[in-house]
Amino acid sequence: MENTVKITILPNGPAMMEGKVNIVHADGKEEMREGKTMLCRCGHSRNKPFCDGQHKANGFCG
Ligand code: FES
Repeated sequence: MENTVKITILPNGPAMMEGKVNIVHADGKEEMREGKTMLCRCGHSRNKPFCDGQHKANGFCG
């Protein structure tokens, strides 16, 4: 399906989105992403809403 976005919750890590997505940030800025986009679920990323690997250092379980 061409316009389908697949979201996979990675154990103890981010939510992986695969497909073309338009992300609207809190300030209203829009950012188009294609391919794999990792969204932080742990709350520790310094690059929210994206995962920067901090979940590993913080022992995120979820
Ligand atoms: S899930 Fe990776 S930094 Fe939060």
